[in-house]
Amino acid sequence: MLGNFMYSNPTRLYFGENAVSFLAGELKNYGPKVMLTYGGGSIKRNGVYDDVIAALKEAGKEVFEDPGVMSNPTVDKLYEGCKIARENNVDLILAVGGGSTIDYAKAVSVSAWCSEDPWDKYYLRMEAPDNRIIPVGSVLTMVGTGSEMNGGSVITNPAQKLKIGHVFGDNVMPKFSILNPRYTFTVPKYQMVAGIYDIFNHICEQYFSGTDDSASDYIAEGLMKCVVNASRAAVKDPENYEARSNLMWCATWALNTLIAKGKTTDWEVHMIGQAVGAYTNATHGMTLAAVSLPYYRHILPYGEAKFARFAKEVWGVRTDTMTAREAAEAGLAALEGWMREIGVVMNTKDLGVTEEMLGGIADATFLLGGGYKKLTKEEVVDILRESLNA
Ligand code: NZQ
Ligand code: ZN
Repeated sequence: MLGNFMYSNPTRLYFGENAVSFLAGELKNYGPKVMLTYGGGSIKRNGVYDDVIAALKEAGKEVFEDPGVMSNPTVDKLYEGCKIARENNVDLILAVGGGSTIDYAKAVSVSAWCSEDPWDKYYLRMEAPDNRIIPVGSVLTMVGTGSEMNGGSVITNPAQKLKIGHVFGDNVMPKFSILNPRYTFTVPKYQMVAGIYDIFNHICEQYFSGTDDSASDYIAEGLMKCVVNASRAAVKDPENYEARSNLMWCATWALNTLIAKGKTTDWEVHMIGQAVGAYTNATHGMTLAAVSLPYYRHILPYGEAKFARFAKEVWGVRTDTMTAREAAEAGLAALEGWMREIGVVMNTKDLGVTEEMLGGIADATFLLGGGYKKLTKEEVVDILRESLNA
């Protein structure tokens, strides 16, 4: 393990079919006013809303509802949520939904009492909060982002055509999260599959960096194998509890900082994917899927040994008689086969990208240097073009 690091994760998790029975007890740790934040209404159709309201009642809370958090939450919605939180002086934000709802709740938590424009402060200038932070708790209903146990909060500014994530610290991470795999049974297949690819790519973003022998890589390989295995079962039968529960637990561990320890981490697929999202408002996991293979093929020569290991350890490719290059390519071929099998979007054309957008998307892509090759803007355009025509 390289590097000197601190590991801490303050989020308390309740996992399993009975997880929501712990909600009322958790709520008692906070003041009486709770802002109940949720999305477009799925929780009212599948009964999750009723479970949550029952727990809020049991804990004797006064509830301020904040519905309508859209996928890829916008800065305008953030301003609206800040107003509700501030005017009612809420003691807790309870986010019930997927990554969008939980990310948004974290953004409101640091922004409600911020005297400046939170978009400028947290997303453009990347400053840390120095004002009152409202605690956040979550009830997870859609698996993928890991937002239930991390400090990530991604907000989209449609006018500026920017989608930016700020990774806040321990003080902003959910204080608790309720993880009931059954709550995910009603997620539409397109979203479920996008979430599965999101999990897998979070692991890749951390795995495809560094050349040392690292415990994080071995954990990552185990998680990737579990995601692939569970994805096949969940695609066949979305109500397979074993599969949905494994996906939920893997998603949480894929992005709660554990497997980033000792790693430089890449995150370039996410940077390109988020820029695609800023231009198209497409589903997050699908933006990643559409640009992944062109990106990985592009950087393969710089990280050949790791891609060869990926083939052998994750996909069980018999690489003994292959050259390193052949093994590395076989790993990406196996990845492609699985992506097609579960049915992710394989090109950005299907997400609404056009040739005219490529320059703008490349401009909106942050170029990081933690992976095997730091890209230039021209390389991003090449990757985007390859994805467009894939
Ligand atoms: O809004 P509702 O009606 O709830 O519908 C949602 C939404 O349409 C639906 N859904 C969620 N749970 C459901 C359900 N439908 C039926 N039954 C259920 N149980 O699913 C749709 C997608 O939900 P959303 O929250 O948007 O998806 P996801 O969890 O993928 O979150 C995406 C957002 O998270 C950000 C993304 O950029 C995007 O903005 N990310 C956050 C990260 C983090 N916090 O660390 C990291 C990720 O890389 C990602 O960037
Ligand atoms: Zn992601």
